[in-house]
Amino acid sequence: MIKTLAVENYRSLRRLVLPLGRLTVVTGANGTGKSSLYRALRLLADAARDGAVAALAAEGGLPSTLWAGPEQPVRDGKRAQGTVRTGPVRLLLGYAGDDFGYALDLGPPVGGASAFALDPEIKCESIWAGPVLRPATLLTERTGTSVRLRDDKGAWRKGVLRVPLFDSILSELADPGNAPDVLRVRERMRSWRFYDHVRTDRDAPARVPRIGTRTPVLSHDGADLAAAWETIREIGDHAALDEAVDRAFPGSRVEVRADDARFELLLRQPGLLRPLSAAELSDGTLRYLLWVAALLTPRPPALLVLNEPETSLHPDLLRPLAGLVAGAAATTQLFVVTHARAFASALEVEAERAGVDLALRELVKEGGRTLVEGQGRLDEPLWYWPTRA
Ligand SMILES: Nc1ncnc2c1ncn2[C@@H]1O[C@H](COP(=O)(O)OP(=O)(O)OP(=O)(O)O)[C@@H](O)[C@H]1O
Ligand SMILES: [Mg+2]
Repeated sequence: MIKTLAVENYRSLRRLVLPLGRLTVVTGANGTGKSSLYRALRLLADAARDGAVAALAAEGGLPSTLWAGPEQPVRDGKRAQGTVRTGPVRLLLGYAGDDFGYALDLGPPVGGASAFALDPEIKCESIWAGPVLRPATLLTERTGTSVRLRDDKGAWRKGVLRVPLFDSILSELADPGNAPDVLRVRERMRSWRFYDHVRTDRDAPARVPRIGTRTPVLSHDGADLAAAWETIREIGDHAALDEAVDRAFPGSRVEVRADDARFELLLRQPGLLRPLSAAELSDGTLRYLLWVAALLTPRPPALLVLNEPETSLHPDLLRPLAGLVAGAAATTQLFVVTHARAFASALEVEAERAGVDLALRELVKEGGRTLVEGQGRLDEPLWYWPTRA
């Protein structure tokens, strides 16, 4: 389980060291940094798929994603002024659990010879054992293009390996024989699953019947909803599936029709003579069913991240959705970003009911920087970043 998430210099996240729980709920007013935190977590996951450099370049590169404020907080009454930087420009992302941690340090490219001016360089990367990076816990260390690995007795191997400046060690070195620690970290991070505003508009992929195969993981666009539903019904918790529908829409039932392997989702409701197809459901109803399929997955990931799942749901559906989220915490760690206080409260109630440890973190903004409400420096988990050579 991830115990700590740390970010420095990414958008409004000047410096954030966030303790996570089995179920972490991040909330806060508009502009406090919720989406930035979500995107920081996505960037970390991208590193394991060798997409972090490209994802950052797509956001405008370091010039637009780096913290735009001063290095030191501005004292009351003073105005932020252009100051001379004393340290190097570093965008830092990392996380740690009880078993291991990983951190990534990105900086601007040196030399102006390349046309890919928005691509940041990976300056350092570290993998360590246990919750805190220390020289003694370090398992793999990359500085620039050089990588040091430990042998199976824990001693540093002679010589260094080389990786390109724009590629993560997670994709370049994840060879089980050579670098088992790197492979372990990469596989764990590749299992992280993100859902962000799944489409429910008129032309949403989830509304169209399509060829279905066994689908233990709902896709990001929800296109395979009917197949995912049928998979849960056959190999997953089918009782929970029916209960989730009944709790939200009393007396209703979902059916999956398979014609020549084309799967279609139907909702049978009291008072109607025929079931309605996914194409006919309201946005909110379809969205709720998508969340049911995503949260009751028969293949839970190491971390499930939901961005504003309450979007377009009627307040009556917040409690049933919160119940599903709290239930999912039995098999997976969850990170939920929400701007709806009502949903955060529903999650508190449902987590308590399910006996799940919930960490509610409210973000606030002070002097342009994102802070966690009520978290002083001394409440932060211990955290050290890799050092540049
Ligand atoms: N490079 C940057 N440096 C400093 N602050 C930035 C930078 N880029 C964006 N911001 C600011 O960071 C703040 C947080 O934005 P973010 O989108 O994460 O907020 P949010 O909590 O998701 O808000 P909302 O509820 O409106 O979606 C915004 O006020 C934005 O203007
Ligand atoms: Mg946002």
